[in-house]
Amino acid sequence: MGLRDTPRRWGAVTQWLHWSVAALILALIAIGWWMRLMPLSLDKITLYYWHKSIGMLVLALVLIRLGWRAGNRPPPLPRDLPRWEAPLAKLTHIALYLLILLMPLSGWLLNSASGIPFRIFWTIPLPPIAPVSAGLEHIFSLLHLASFSALALLLLGHMAAALRHHFLLHNDVLLRMLPRFGHRSRS
Ligand code: HEM
Ligand code: HEM
Repeated sequence: MGLRDTPRRWGAVTQWLHWSVAALILALIAIGWWMRLMPLSLDKITLYYWHKSIGMLVLALVLIRLGWRAGNRPPPLPRDLPRWEAPLAKLTHIALYLLILLMPLSGWLLNSASGIPFRIFWTIPLPPIAPVSAGLEHIFSLLHLASFSALALLLLGHMAAALRHHFLLHNDVLLRMLPRFGHRSRS
């Protein structure tokens, strides 16, 4: 399979970035909820460390994804879709990108305002991007939660759309984001 996107398929780089970011975000959502509900303990603090570290990793991967996208033309959607669908897909994708940037950024702001020193994966110190303040911490925490709610709704729509393309419209929109097991690459 080629590395670059082609008019027919997403290339290996985009596929790896899409699915690793998807898996990490789903893990972050689960860890995010779980860690907040846990009673204070060493495990809880460790879970916060993992959450913040994976969140910063997602920020880096999304930036790489956007850079790669700028240098690759995405495959166009099938032409026989209802007229509303392509603009809606485009809008949803832009909103998804904005939200998966806003999630780690609001987390970073939240962590900065809390004043808690933090090293990404126990190594790289995360520099503060906001002053230490309980008021700001509260606002950024609301921002983190609000962007999560919007992200969750969009993701449900995004996944439903992908499954609709595959099972109801019988086109290759889902398959072209997946590796072709057992096939020789033609594009
Ligand atoms: C956290 C989870 C996810 C995020 C943040 C996400 C985000 C995105 C974004 C931003 C795009 C647009 C790519 C572009 O035009 O640059 C995209 C494409 C796509 N996503 Fe996801 N996605 C996620 C999970 C999923 C899941 C679970 C599925 C399958 C059920 C899926 C199926 C697809 C497909 C098939 C495309 C390609 C659409 C096309 O060819 O036009 N995604 N995703
Ligand atoms: C894509 C990245 C991220 C996702 C999807 C995500 C998701 C979540 C979710 C679902 C929660 C629980 C609900 C909530 O309180 O808002 C949460 C909480 C939290 N997240 Fe994230 N997060 C991400 C990145 C980050 C980063 C990079 C940091 C810090 C550097 C961070 C710090 C926190 C903190 C401190 C909480 C607890 C919030 C509170 O107690 O008010 N998150 N996150």
